[in-house]
Amino acid sequence: MDKFIINGGVPLKGEVLISGAKNAVLPIMAACIIKPGKYKINNVPNLKDTRTMISLIQECGADIKFQNNTLIIDSNPCVNPIAPYELVKTMRASFYMLGPFMSRFNKAVVSLPGGCAWGPRPVNFHIEALEKMGAKIELEDGNIVCEGMLKGTVIEFKKKSVGATGNIIMASVNAQGSTEIVNAACEPEIVDLCNFIELMGVNIEGVGTDRLIIHPTDKDVSELEYSVIPDRIEAGTFMIASLMTKGDIILKNININHLAIVIEKIKEAGGEINQIDDCSIQVKYIKEIIPTNIETLEYPGYPTDLQAQWMSLMAISKGKSSVIENIYKDRFTHISELNRFGADIFCENNEAFINGVESLSPAPVMSTDIRASASLILAALSAMGESSISRIYHIDRGYEDIESKIRALGGDIVRVSD
Ligand code: UD1
Repeated sequence: MDKFIINGGVPLKGEVLISGAKNAVLPIMAACIIKPGKYKINNVPNLKDTRTMISLIQECGADIKFQNNTLIIDSNPCVNPIAPYELVKTMRASFYMLGPFMSRFNKAVVSLPGGCAWGPRPVNFHIEALEKMGAKIELEDGNIVCEGMLKGTVIEFKKKSVGATGNIIMASVNAQGSTEIVNAACEPEIVDLCNFIELMGVNIEGVGTDRLIIHPTDKDVSELEYSVIPDRIEAGTFMIASLMTKGDIILKNININHLAIVIEKIKEAGGEINQIDDCSIQVKYIKEIIPTNIETLEYPGYPTDLQAQWMSLMAISKGKSSVIENIYKDRFTHISELNRFGADIFCENNEAFINGVESLSPAPVMSTDIRASASLILAALSAMGESSISRIYHIDRGYEDIESKIRALGGDIVRVSD
């Protein structure tokens, strides 16, 4: 198993090109199955998760080419609406196959995703919504077996869910009649999925709001080209890296609007932000980090996927701060690892209390999930001396070539095999 050896204490300086958004491209790739056609998708990050999604789509029968961040999916030969356990167990987003399979084949066999490092992650919203659209659903040998011709209806989610909103949008594309989604997720990744599906000729009312109406169409797709939005979580991680290493980083290929709350928090924490152009900003360390509380919320609130990284930053702030996690109430596996660097953090229920320390010291640590791994890399980059981070297969799921990007900014990081 690979691990990272990081010699921290070097300010990161220079330019970094932000990759396409993992959480946008995964449902877009799944959506290519809905209507037979040839799809060209640009700005696709080369990640373990995108490669898993490629395997899922190939399993269904699609022809795929993936080169230089461009993906060509020919979904004409797709015949097999099955997402097997071997793939689903490595990536929960495999559940995004359910909506497209039902849309194209009126049938789906998708392995039920288990829990994950931060507790149970239910899929009841997806199931209940499909049942309301007329699907018959059973659990057989750990698989969700779903069948039936879907009918448009009103789906009201009790809570905003990115995955359930995406799945039901995709399920609605070939349904009989229109589907209204009330309390839909408004994340930029959902907007990106809607924009892509609209290119298939489907009309979606309310894109970007929490009330969506999907009007199906009989129109065929022959060829379609699309570019995925930049990854706001990767961008946020490098913004925090700049402050944690007393650095000066220019982020290129970002969507500044998607990062509004992160920019606000970085400024509140004492960082300097200068806009270079429409899709680049400079993030510069200018003074000691000011303790700054955050509370994770649905978009446009502070993202849960940047919570661990923020905690790492607050670990070296000048005073006390708190982090409240509202989306996944026990997403705190990084706390004990951050404390190994000398951070002083404890949690009670869904709130973490951070007493900032002067500096972090190097340590061997272990990653537990994608974003927790990022928080450990940040801590190691800030701590003067040599740290090691094991189980980095987590980071490979969600950050494209992170070590090259850090090295290009002057950071000392190498990947070694155990
Ligand atoms: C997506 C993101 C993940 C991010 C999360 C929240 C992808 C591939 N993953 O995950 O990185 O952390 O959004 O922004 O895009 N819930 C239920 N029942 C359901 C579905 C969800 O109770 O059927 C709850 C969850 O437990 C959670 C909340 O709803 O508390 C939001 O989860 P959801 O938005 O669905 O997360 P994912 O789509 O799995």
